[in-house]
Amino acid sequence: MNVYDSEQIAKGLKPLGYKTTPLLERADLIIVNTCAIRAKAEQKAFSFLGRLAGLKRKKPDLIIGVGGCVAQQEGEKILKRVPFLDLVFGTHAVDRLPGMILRIESKRCRIVDVGMKKATDSMEPFIDSQIDGSATSFVTIMQGCDNYCTYCVVPYVRGRERSRDPESIIKEIRLLVESGVREVTLLGQNVNSYGKKEGLCSFTQLLSRVNEINDLKRIRFTTSHPKDLSDDLIDGFRNFEKLCNHIHLPVQSGANRVLKQMNRKYTREQYLEKIDKLRSFCSDIAITSDIIVGFPGETRAEFEETIDLIKTVVYDSLYAFKYSNRPNATAAELPGKITEPEKKERLQMLLALQENFTTQKNESLVGTVEFILVEGLSKKQTTGIQKTEFGLQRERHPAVQWTGRTSTNKIVNFIPGDDGMPCNDNLTGKMAKVRIEKAFPHSLGGQLRDL
Ligand code: 5AD
Ligand code: SF4
Repeated sequence: MNVYDSEQIAKGLKPLGYKTTPLLERADLIIVNTCAIRAKAEQKAFSFLGRLAGLKRKKPDLIIGVGGCVAQQEGEKILKRVPFLDLVFGTHAVDRLPGMILRIESKRCRIVDVGMKKATDSMEPFIDSQIDGSATSFVTIMQGCDNYCTYCVVPYVRGRERSRDPESIIKEIRLLVESGVREVTLLGQNVNSYGKKEGLCSFTQLLSRVNEINDLKRIRFTTSHPKDLSDDLIDGFRNFEKLCNHIHLPVQSGANRVLKQMNRKYTREQYLEKIDKLRSFCSDIAITSDIIVGFPGETRAEFEETIDLIKTVVYDSLYAFKYSNRPNATAAELPGKITEPEKKERLQMLLALQENFTTQKNESLVGTVEFILVEGLSKKQTTGIQKTEFGLQRERHPAVQWTGRTSTNKIVNFIPGDDGMPCNDNLTGKMAKVRIEKAFPHSLGGQLRDL
């Protein structure tokens, strides 16, 4: 979500003559896009802001702004806390940002805009081609959330759920595809309820339209709320050939009492039924999840129920978090807060268990040939020189290592194959057939077989 918002900020400021720079020292404008989901993310934003004080001293004309969920939550207070700040803008103010920047440039005033939109206000994003040449892109299809999980700050900082017009979504994706994008990830806090409130088309109908877009090769979506995962959508994994074989289905806890306290509106049994259905419709679907450990009042036995659920489902990978108290969220008032060392221990135990499962799943792919959408050169470029016991040996295909993902969302770094497979062509955006040769805890290694 935040990556998409940052891209939106860059797209909106392009007509004003701003383009992104990798060097902070060169910037004329710095926008810090913040996340408030856990206290740690919020602390990180403030410590980054603190580090900008020196830059502003050296370059007084530098404009510094804070956007996103922390900006929405704290508003004017941030101007007091960070005296050199020029601008605070909330989650509903991104389309007003260019106007604010123009005002600051001409009047050197300080601005706070944390106004939320009304249901009738336009929610059109800045529609533009891909600005960084990548083969993948996020596309927001809805904003906000109406679910009010008791631990979560999102409904307070992103507002009520609203879905975008399908025509505008299709138009945006077509433009992205024209500029080289081959995979889109449709984004929303709960994509399964897309269009329901406004009486637009259903999420499955939207998927069916996106599936028809020429030259688009892959579709992903996130996030699905288990309570709203329909049979129709589960069937989509069979019907839409571009839809990737992966679903992120956050469970949060394996204990019914905790799920109730979290206001998740499903039971452990109902969740497991959905998993069974997904696997019966699509046997090799990859399933990932989010889990919170140490929710207020979570007993050791309830935590063990979560461990047991993980053993039952055997996820492809997991994002697990220690419960973090959020000022607006109602769980902040609940008794029975779990101590930090206990939360840490539960988290470590859970992650160690999952690491075994992830490794086993990755190892089971060694020897298979997978279709990879190439995203670009791998960050960890090999030097082309391999150390052996006796000295240094040059590899046959020095330096080039590409990266991409399987349909099941596993990262694969691969080298060009033997048999004259191209090693210097730009493979970004191509579908590559890669033989998987190595499994690591968080990625796979392979060799190109065919394009
Ligand atoms: N504490 C810890 N984790 C949280 N999440 C959301 N709110 C909190 C919180 N207060 C996690 C949930 C959610 C993911 C995006 O972040 O697991 O699915
Ligand atoms: Fe937060 Fe729950 Fe909405 Fe997800 S569904 S954004 S966890 S309130």
